[in-house]
Amino acid sequence: MLSRRGFLLTSTLAAGAGVVPTGVAAEKKPGGAPFDSKNWGAVRRQFDLDPNYIHLSLFFLSSHPRPVREAIAAYRQQLESNPLQTVERLAFGGPPEEYVPAKVCNAIASYIGGSADDIALTQNTTTGLAVIYQGLPLKPGDEILTTTHDHFVHHEAIRLAAERAGATWRKIPLFDSYDSISADDMVERLRKAIRPETRVVGVTWVHSSSGLKLPLRRIADALAVVNRERSPDRRVFFVVDGVHGLGVESPDIVAMGMDAFSAGTHKWIFGPRGTGFVWARPEVWSVMRPLMPSTSSAELFFAWAGEKPPDMPARATWFSPGGFQAFEHYWAVPPAFEFHRAIGPARITERIHELNAQMREGLAKMPHVTLYTPRSKELSSGMVCFDVKGMSPQQVVQRLAERNRVLASTTPYAVPFARVAFGIQNTTAEVEKTLAAIRSMA
Ligand SMILES: Cc1ncc(COP(=O)(O)O)c(C=O)c1O
Repeated sequence: MLSRRGFLLTSTLAAGAGVVPTGVAAEKKPGGAPFDSKNWGAVRRQFDLDPNYIHLSLFFLSSHPRPVREAIAAYRQQLESNPLQTVERLAFGGPPEEYVPAKVCNAIASYIGGSADDIALTQNTTTGLAVIYQGLPLKPGDEILTTTHDHFVHHEAIRLAAERAGATWRKIPLFDSYDSISADDMVERLRKAIRPETRVVGVTWVHSSSGLKLPLRRIADALAVVNRERSPDRRVFFVVDGVHGLGVESPDIVAMGMDAFSAGTHKWIFGPRGTGFVWARPEVWSVMRPLMPSTSSAELFFAWAGEKPPDMPARATWFSPGGFQAFEHYWAVPPAFEFHRAIGPARITERIHELNAQMREGLAKMPHVTLYTPRSKELSSGMVCFDVKGMSPQQVVQRLAERNRVLASTTPYAVPFARVAFGIQNTTAEVEKTLAAIRSMA
């Protein structure tokens, strides 16, 4: 228990001290020359992907690039050889500068343009959405407004939180058909749907149902106008499931103006599988209630030890689901952000848009294909969703895999589509091969 006290003390000190993020790979000096981050072939070779396939579903679950694999392996080795002292030193009672969760928060914060103090570490997007919706101060009679386009886990997080709070929830469509989507119309629909009882608006940055990207900044601006007319205790919170924008679009995420943002780091960021985070404004954390015990916060421990309630207000560290983790993954997040930084987020955005635009334009020319993803850069991101006439999405995906070794997916929604997603591991030649395979389905 004593060392646990030490952990809690040092963890707070470390988190406040703004420890510079360094991956364990750097500490351990792994072998191998640094890769040429300006060469897409060299970037691709950082992944251990089976070269016999065209991988178009890497957003689904990350393959780890070399620096992340090495960090995981190095941490695992330390844990295998001495679990007690490794965990005590890096996560409980060691010197503040070795406290790894602070390095993880710093790496995330410096990428999204926020403060490490406003980040809770989670295991995935789903956990983060539950942390947010269960944590918001909802009362009977309050309403959560969302859309018909969000992922199952987002709607479930809302349903469960609403039921527990005695609140209600409502879904609205942001468009009537895929060929008439407009940013103006989507913002206007959300704004008009807000009622006096609406306390939360929850949306998804990039829809995994269609590849549509929402104009988050404009939605935040519209909500700011609504909130100007409301007292602080009745303001509308803006919640975003950001998992398919993070690592694709500009990383200036905090600047987009949402109140709370949840994402896994195990999709487009290529972080360790089973990692994610929630960022929220400090004034939002301060009115939230934690869902789970946290083991990242000294004040909670000392309040418990002193048999008194913790000193309010709540802060982000109270919301990281606690207990032991798969530490070799939990700690190996910073090298993933460092990998993005080395390549350049703007280059990554440009490359992903270029490849997916090539795919959309190719599909749009095929009479036997219906393209659902908008063709404009403003409304699209790293995914392309479509149907082939006379074939189910499952048949399309199966045929691509069996005949062409192209790994596409179907969208897990009530009305499924076939879906491909080109990331920085892919090439323009792979786009052309995939288009040729779909052309042959006519
Ligand atoms: C839009 C969206 N939100 C949430 C999730 C769930 O993500 P996680 O596995 O990180 O919880 C997914 C899964 O792909 C998704 O597409």
